[in-house]
Amino acid sequence: MCGIFGVITNQEIPIGKIALEGIKRLEYRGYDSVGIVSQHEGKLFIKKDAGKIDEVHKKLKLDDFPGKVAIAHTRWATHGAPTKVNSHPHTNCTNNIAVVHNGIIENFMTLKKELIRNGHKFRSDTDTEVIPHLIEDKMKEGLDLKESIIEVLKICKGSYGLAILHLDLPDAIIVVRKESPLVIGIEPGKTTYCASDIPAFLPLTRICYILEDCEMAILRAGEVDFFNINTSEKIEKKSQQIEWSIDAAEKGGYKHFMLKEIYEQPTALRQTLKISEDEMKTFAQILLSAENIYITGAGTSLFASLAGKFIISRFLGKFIQAIECSELKIQLKDCLKENSVIIALSQSGETIDTIEAIRWAKKTQNVKILSITNIVGSSITRYSDHVIITRAGPEIGVAATKTYACQVLTLGLISLEIAKLRKQENEEEIQQYEKALKSTPQIIEAFLENNINLIKNTVKNLEKHSNYFFLARGISIGIAKEGGLKLKEVACRFIEGYSAASAKHGPIALVRKNFPIVFIAPPDETYERLIGNVMEFKARGGKIISFVVESDKKITELSDITIRIPQPGNKYFNLFSPITFIPALQLLAYYTAIFHNLNPDKPMNLSKTVTVH
Ligand code: M6R
Repeated sequence: MCGIFGVITNQEIPIGKIALEGIKRLEYRGYDSVGIVSQHEGKLFIKKDAGKIDEVHKKLKLDDFPGKVAIAHTRWATHGAPTKVNSHPHTNCTNNIAVVHNGIIENFMTLKKELIRNGHKFRSDTDTEVIPHLIEDKMKEGLDLKESIIEVLKICKGSYGLAILHLDLPDAIIVVRKESPLVIGIEPGKTTYCASDIPAFLPLTRICYILEDCEMAILRAGEVDFFNINTSEKIEKKSQQIEWSIDAAEKGGYKHFMLKEIYEQPTALRQTLKISEDEMKTFAQILLSAENIYITGAGTSLFASLAGKFIISRFLGKFIQAIECSELKIQLKDCLKENSVIIALSQSGETIDTIEAIRWAKKTQNVKILSITNIVGSSITRYSDHVIITRAGPEIGVAATKTYACQVLTLGLISLEIAKLRKQENEEEIQQYEKALKSTPQIIEAFLENNINLIKNTVKNLEKHSNYFFLARGISIGIAKEGGLKLKEVACRFIEGYSAASAKHGPIALVRKNFPIVFIAPPDETYERLIGNVMEFKARGGKIISFVVESDKKITELSDITIRIPQPGNKYFNLFSPITFIPALQLLAYYTAIFHNLNPDKPMNLSKTVTVH
């Protein structure tokens, strides 16, 4: 869940500045501590400390390093507290090897005890520190650095993206991956980069190689060689051209990535609408012939699944079960059938629980895996039968925003292909749904243009409240949960996102005068019953904040605050309301964070990509 970055060049460029800017673009992966090491004239130069990158930079001048090679790390603490000594890079006893690591060495305790018995001195509580010490031992046995790393990785259990410097190899960085992402960027003949994610070097180059599991790369200035660590043999890899725009990884004029990415939603949706019909058709055909269908993901991706299952079953006529990825194996272990299909959603394509779930399902019953992700070449793409890559562009804010909208849109497009193939609806009807789905970017644009003051005033009105209910019925339960998750993670409020019907079976006990209750209320078949639920909460003094369509009257009359989504109130638009309603809730969360002086891009304790169980 940490971020690693490396640079090696033969150009006259400020290596510290490049390393600092690169690692800053990965800060969404963790911000407990930061460290950079360069090597120059036979010495390692290390600066590291606990804290966010800007704070540490102020103290240590992280842009000032000598030499032409550096590696850097931003940490999300797992083993060992977020302190200076536990910050990466970690070195060996003789301080000639420096390592940055993203992942977990599961058997580090056993390895560490053995190393200590053999006289090694440890400085940190991390799992990572065993790696430089183990390499030191292997090199003492006479192996070169590359072979030593390969031998060390044979005894290390767990996951890793590693970047390693050694004073004896001053013109190289060695990188290796297993289960933790690593990509290589190159300016041929000049400079080579490695990083946990493409945006880290996007402003510098668009030529990229994706390292697969158990592959090693030796980076030299403007060159790279690849090896398979199981055979030690050299392998050939093809480079890819990254199509994301260069400013995609920058904040532009926005104060935060989260705000920028909320505003990018219309563009992201328009780009995703361009995905070929054939890709959607492949998914549609597989779903039409499947007996059991499950849809899975974590966090926001799970909530996109909750919307997606309604949208797809609307046309497929089959029940789709949404299961949290970490629960999938335990819930299906005795009943997963061969002719099943799993739709897996993951923005990053690296969430360990999602990957584990699909790998288990594939191995157990050879079920078909259909994945929707935002990242080309991510792990999920390797374990799936078919993949659709959404076109949201890089999402840097820790809170998922535009990628959620694009996931649901993709599920909408698949559902329309199903409708066309299944022919249960007449053509005109399908066209109406298609029109509604294709209008989602304009609806969001119109909302963003006209409602910011209303959202800000709502935030002010709610300033004293730190507990909320977010309630809805049917398809909108997913919206309530996702909107609630946003407010939780970026604004540190406590939210219960719940079924409005179930809320009276317990949660309603908490309601006192002015307790805020947010209702998500598009005028679908659940609307009349939802009115009853609004009244139940109003009768107990709750403050009602409702998200409704433009023409809404009944729930508006019962509400203290109404936020109107500018869309027609008919069944075609209702079906895609998980896309059009969500920006309003994202903005509510964003401005609440700002109001309470919280940085929405760096919520406490979070990392954007969760690669530990
Ligand atoms: O990359 P993924 O979509 O697999 O990530 C899943 C969750 O970790 C992610 O959605 C998380 O909940 C976000 N912080 C939500 O804003």
